[in-house]
Amino acid sequence: TWYQDEDHAVHKLFKRGSTDGVNYPDVGSPTWTSAYPAFSPDPSAMPQEWKDALADAVSAGVIPDIPVTTVINDWATYPDGNDAGGPVICSSFVQCRGEGDIWDAPDGKIGIALTTDQQRYGLLFFYIDLSNETATHFLIGSNILSNPDDSWRFSTKEGILRSIRGRTHMTSMTNEQVMGELGWTMEIIHNSTGGRVPKYWRPPYGDCDNRVRAIAQQIFGLEAILWNHDTNDWSIGSDPSTTVDSVDASITGWLTGPKSPGLAILEHELTEDTVQAFMNATPR
Ligand SMILES: *[C@@H]1O[C@H](CO)[C@@H](O)[C@H](O)[C@H]1NC(C)=O
Ligand SMILES: *[C@@H]1O[C@H](CO)[C@@H](O)[C@H](O)[C@H]1NC(C)=O
Repeated sequence: TWYQDEDHAVHKLFKRGSTDGVNYPDVGSPTWTSAYPAFSPDPSAMPQEWKDALADAVSAGVIPDIPVTTVINDWATYPDGNDAGGPVICSSFVQCRGEGDIWDAPDGKIGIALTTDQQRYGLLFFYIDLSNETATHFLIGSNILSNPDDSWRFSTKEGILRSIRGRTHMTSMTNEQVMGELGWTMEIIHNSTGGRVPKYWRPPYGDCDNRVRAIAQQIFGLEAILWNHDTNDWSIGSDPSTTVDSVDASITGWLTGPKSPGLAILEHELTEDTVQAFMNATPR
């Protein structure tokens, strides 16, 4: 399942769902919309429980003191003298696989990591349903807020996981900003699904390091899902060497090739083209 057991410790940070006596506002109603910060949540406005959880984790020494990155042209860089791929930082942006990260699908299986930047999931839901593929459906908190569509909340389809994704390079954020980015998305999912707390997240740009990883794992109980095959579909239209055909060809090659470890394919839902590439290439 995509959500934590009811007795998982993370529930202390989010009150319990349908049995907690709270009247949750309807998803999409003005009360619901106005309760959540839209962008760049103000760290000082975080719930006290989250602030306390961060302070406790820092003083217990479980959040490594790693400098934040500077992002230039989408590339995250540490200050001089820091080894991004070394054991201290272990940045997944440079392919270091951190403890607890999920990079591979199980042997013989195909996982598709979809990114819902534009909320175009109607078509993909339909397709995934037909093909019985496994997909991890990552939700961006601010997109949930601006697209309060019902379909992401209560799907009963096997294999579609509700998980979360931040919006930008998380390694460039302070501990407090990472808390807000992950915490508010978990809160909106929790409060809109009768109390379910997600187990997985997808770092944007695959950019996670031991500091961000520790906040996600130790405080929020979240495991990062990465990928072992990247379609680069986001560059269709900007990089002439990436076309719908080339993305199709890559995916087809992977699907007919070895599947040990299983395939974890990164896809975006940026344009009709990339959705089409996914549909063309996946077995039906
Ligand atoms: C989420 O629900 C809890 C109760 O379970 C409530 O205390 C909290 O204020 C709600 N959050 C928002 C942003 O509405
Ligand atoms: C999908 O799975 C269902 C239930 O296991 C099965 O009945 C159906 O035939 C499958 N569809 C495809 C396209 O494999």
